[in-house]
Amino acid sequence: MINPGPSSSVVSQKGYHNDKGTPLFFVMMRFNIKIVLCLCVIAVFTTLSLWTRCGDYGTEWSRRPIYVDTANKANEIQGTEELDCVINGDYTIGCRKEGGEVYIPFSFIHNYFEIYGKLATYDGVERFEWTHSVGKVYHPKGKYEPSGVFMHFENFNVEARDRVKCVSALNGVPISTQWESNGYHYPTQIAQFGLAHYSKNLTEPEPRRKNIEDGDKELGKWVVPNGSNIIRNYDDSAMSKVMNFTTLDSFSSGVRLKMDHVLDFVMSLSIALSPNSSFTVILQNREKQGIYNLHYVASDILITAQEENIYHGIGTSENWVRITRDLIIDLQKGLNYLNKDKSIKHRLPRSKLKIIGVVMRGRGAIDNFTLSSSEHILQFYDSAEWFLKNQEPKSGGWSIQVKRKLSAGFQTLEPGWYSAMGQGQAISVLARAYFHSGGDERYLNAAVLALKPFRVPSWQGGVLATFMNKFRWYEEYPTKPASFVLNGFIYSLLGLYDLMIMAPPPQAKEAELLFEEGMVSLKNMLMFYDMGSSTAYDLRHITLGIAPNLARWDYHVTHINQLLLLSTLDNEPIFQQTAERWIAYMSGKRAAHN
Ligand SMILES: *[C@@H]1O[C@H](CO)[C@@H](O)[C@H](O)[C@H]1NC(C)=O
Ligand SMILES: *[C@@H]1O[C@H](CO)[C@@H](O)[C@H](O)[C@H]1NC(C)=O
Ligand SMILES: *[C@@H]1O[C@H](CO)[C@@H](O)[C@H](O)[C@H]1NC(C)=O
Ligand SMILES: *[C@@H]1O[C@H](CO)[C@@H](O)[C@H](O)[C@H]1NC(C)=O
Ligand SMILES: *[C@@H]1O[C@H](CO)[C@@H](O)[C@H](O)[C@H]1NC(C)=O
Repeated sequence: MINPGPSSSVVSQKGYHNDKGTPLFFVMMRFNIKIVLCLCVIAVFTTLSLWTRCGDYGTEWSRRPIYVDTANKANEIQGTEELDCVINGDYTIGCRKEGGEVYIPFSFIHNYFEIYGKLATYDGVERFEWTHSVGKVYHPKGKYEPSGVFMHFENFNVEARDRVKCVSALNGVPISTQWESNGYHYPTQIAQFGLAHYSKNLTEPEPRRKNIEDGDKELGKWVVPNGSNIIRNYDDSAMSKVMNFTTLDSFSSGVRLKMDHVLDFVMSLSIALSPNSSFTVILQNREKQGIYNLHYVASDILITAQEENIYHGIGTSENWVRITRDLIIDLQKGLNYLNKDKSIKHRLPRSKLKIIGVVMRGRGAIDNFTLSSSEHILQFYDSAEWFLKNQEPKSGGWSIQVKRKLSAGFQTLEPGWYSAMGQGQAISVLARAYFHSGGDERYLNAAVLALKPFRVPSWQGGVLATFMNKFRWYEEYPTKPASFVLNGFIYSLLGLYDLMIMAPPPQAKEAELLFEEGMVSLKNMLMFYDMGSSTAYDLRHITLGIAPNLARWDYHVTHINQLLLLSTLDNEPIFQQTAERWIAYMSGKRAAHN
């Protein structure tokens, strides 16, 4: 990762010279300048003395490779003088002079031009690495397929993000704290969680999976204290043999299974708990011998923690529920919950932990209990199911229950707003669930219903804005006035495309119309976002008449990745050509001036 920010002053002090006393990146520049100078001099045939000096430099440089500078080291240090640099006539910084060349501290350049840099050592040789931007461009390997990987989301780890409070054990989806610290369901984040797991399923190696207990063929060696018991019987509602347990109240009288399990920390099981009952996984930190108890309890609490005990509620239904838990994520989120100083984030490497046991307390039953290296498809379906269960039948949307103020000048979005990006990415999840499930109509119907807000103007509670009374645009944030956020709009188009390809013709029609209209708008409006050396995140410079809101590099690179993807769906050269120009901005290229 590139290293901007606080360490840049260190970079400048240490980085000004390498161990041989030569500022490498300026050596290279000076080398070029002198060659150019030489050529000019030759071209105009000026005085012989200049010609000689020029010739001298030429031989000196031709003797020396650029990176190894031993010969004239002493001279160059001697020839360096302190020098004041006056910046735009406003203030002064300390620079250095060597011959006719001026050297400016990198910390200054970093702040002035927002350029990143760091010292790095390769094969024992230190060098300075200059980077104009951050972010990774993903060149599509082929045409985008709605049944395949979603963009490059196989690299996303949504639930590990700091702005995810936890993954709810009530429904298996992440809870966001981005705009409200108590946490809320954010459809866009839930969809990205689902799309990441769907994509990982297609790109990662097959999971390892160990059966721990299924009440039938795979039986655990449970320790049953006095007063407690277990029984394995056929259960009518599960239509399979399951394991029931009954214990006294205390944790110590729970039935337990000793384990010594490493590496695979994704747990999946079906469970039915009576009130006040719990299922606990005991983890040990292999280095510090510390113990953590992850309790899954018959309760509606989201997450709470006390000392080494972390609690996730799984609901109070007493019916069978299937839960899939990444135990490492649950532990991390629990430790972050305990940690009052939010700046310290727990990042526990998997290699340091092991599962040493499971304890069940109260009354309940379990079935199909496994530990795996991953359960991407189960986690994908947790997301898809959330969209089925939480869609509002009248609006077709998943309303967002937090306030959002995009910036001064825009009216605040009050809780209950819809996002075209949330709708679109939900459709991408549902279209994949429809495909993966072999045509389960519930997913298709939900995806079609989710188109409704695309037809409702944003001032009437939908997501549709119209630019200059002409171009229809689906708003990530349906603000007044319209904000025309670019990346959210393109994500919504991808959702529409996914549905139009996946759905049978009658159901695909509406999505196709919306997609085509959106593409016309995008082609006509795309250049409004081109700022000549970067891109605009939205069009507030037009709708609010203020300075443009330039996209930071990770959004700029998202714009590029989206255009590259669209260029595989649409032959119009605007996508490919614009993406290439925007890629060039990432290494400092600018649009030409007059
Ligand atoms: C992906 O999902 C399929 C089921 O659709 C499963 O058989 C396969 O093991 C999964 N692979 C990974 C890497 O998750
Ligand atoms: C369980 O209780 C019985 C009698 O009540 C006793 O004989 C036995 O030792 C107890 N077992 C344990 C493990 O405490
Ligand atoms: C456990 O898995 C079996 C086989 O897939 C299934 O028939 C059974 O219903 C599952 N148990 C529960 C409680 O869902
Ligand atoms: C659950 O436990 C609490 C405290 O131990 C107790 O007051 C309550 O009656 C219990 N509820 C049930 C349904 O057993
Ligand atoms: C086992 O547990 C299930 C689910 O809670 C319940 O329906 C069933 O009656 C229990 N069976 C026995 C024998 O306790």
